[in-house]
Amino acid sequence: MKVFKQNKKLRKFISCQKKDLKIGLVATMGALHEGHISLIKSSKKKCDITICSIFVNPTQFNDEQDFKNYPKKIEEDLKILEIAKCDIVYNPNYNDIYLPKEKQKKFDHCGLDKILEGKYRPGHFDGVATIVEKLLEIIMPDFAFFGYKDLQQLMVVKMLVKNKNIRTKIVGCETIREKNGLAMSSRNQLLSKKDFKKSSKIYQQLKFCKENFTENTLQKMKKIVLNNLNKSNIKVEYFEFIDLNNFSILQKKADGIKYAACIAVVISGVRLIDNIIL
Ligand code: PAF
Repeated sequence: MKVFKQNKKLRKFISCQKKDLKIGLVATMGALHEGHISLIKSSKKKCDITICSIFVNPTQFNDEQDFKNYPKKIEEDLKILEIAKCDIVYNPNYNDIYLPKEKQKKFDHCGLDKILEGKYRPGHFDGVATIVEKLLEIIMPDFAFFGYKDLQQLMVVKMLVKNKNIRTKIVGCETIREKNGLAMSSRNQLLSKKDFKKSSKIYQQLKFCKENFTENTLQKMKKIVLNNLNKSNIKVEYFEFIDLNNFSILQKKADGIKYAACIAVVISGVRLIDNIIL
């Protein structure tokens, strides 16, 4: 496994590879878990060369404390990637990506930056699009793999690639869960044992929606879910049903819609998101 810190060296290495080899990118912020490994596996299945980027991107954090608290474990990450037989790691320093004091660019997210994650984390998606665009420019992968756990991020990245005519194909990959149902996330490491146990309620409620979807109105399910999470002392930032075709929030069922339920909660200061396709 080759590790690059400088985009110029990485570019040079990539340009020396055979032109017909397919390159896959798994972009991460490190603190790797099985969710990331499953993205690496998807890339290895589809591509000849898999590149994992590890960069905790400051421009996508709207809260400085959140950025400081974000787990950073580069030595462990490299071991995990070696075992997963990742081919290349790109682990740049800030200066290899950004100019001093560079801000995130502004993007047209077609309203995605105004709802759910976009509403609660102002500027977040501009930061995500800024770093993803830079990574795609440096690496020029044929495919890039993103988890469904960050469903809205996946939509933002798909839109970015479409609007900027970038040739990379964006592949959505299934959410990997802990035994208790909690969606894998680097933030899970910040939960105490007690809070980890409590966090199982999130997926329980999403499953409840899936199992009871046909016989209930959206409003009724929303009320039950919010009530149940409230009883468990879980602070819900949002819980909404969305139309997967255009990611708009739905109040009522209608014909021809592909539904998902999206949720963000905070447990003892740790922010967790999840979703389920209904
Ligand atoms: O999903 C993430 O870990 C990050 O948002 C990403 C896509 C690596 C961009 O920094």
